[in-house]
Amino acid sequence: MFHHHTWLTASVVWLLMSSGAGAQALQAPQPTPGFMPNPAQGKRLFDKQCATCHGLDLQGTRQGPPFLHPVYEPSHHGDASFQMAARYGTRAHHWKFGDMPPVPGVTADEVAHITAYVRQQQRGVGIR
Ligand code: HEC
Repeated sequence: MFHHHTWLTASVVWLLMSSGAGAQALQAPQPTPGFMPNPAQGKRLFDKQCATCHGLDLQGTRQGPPFLHPVYEPSHHGDASFQMAARYGTRAHHWKFGDMPPVPGVTADEVAHITAYVRQQQRGVGIR
């Protein structure tokens, strides 16, 4: 009985950790229905909120990874992953830059603008 319970607890903890610290239990923030993201607006927001780590040219910095990289193509990191990262931050898992902290005050609509900008720039270098 005791052993069984211990095993169960250990498996639950392992499952939570292996699924990205329970991130799957969190809901991705949703933009306003019918919202039209605008890459130009996204650039302004990105430069202010994300560029210190991800780079003004989206090529990364010493504090964060580049987005003009196949790892971040839409099929690997969909738009919801941008919403999740901005709201909740993300654990270091692809790189060695450390964890990304949540970006305080950024709204789901703003993140949708930012994502539209990132996708536009990715398409420009053939990442789609
Ligand atoms: C303080 C530095 C920092 C800031 C500011 C920052 N990021 Fe990050 N971001 C990181 C790091 C570091 C990672 C890489 C984590 C890893 O190893 O996978 C990351 C990863 C990501 C990812 C990938 C998440 C995943 O699921 O793998 C997305 C999407 C992202 N950031 C979006 C953003 C957006 C959008 C902004 C601005 C609103 C932003 N970041 C601002 C440091 C930052």
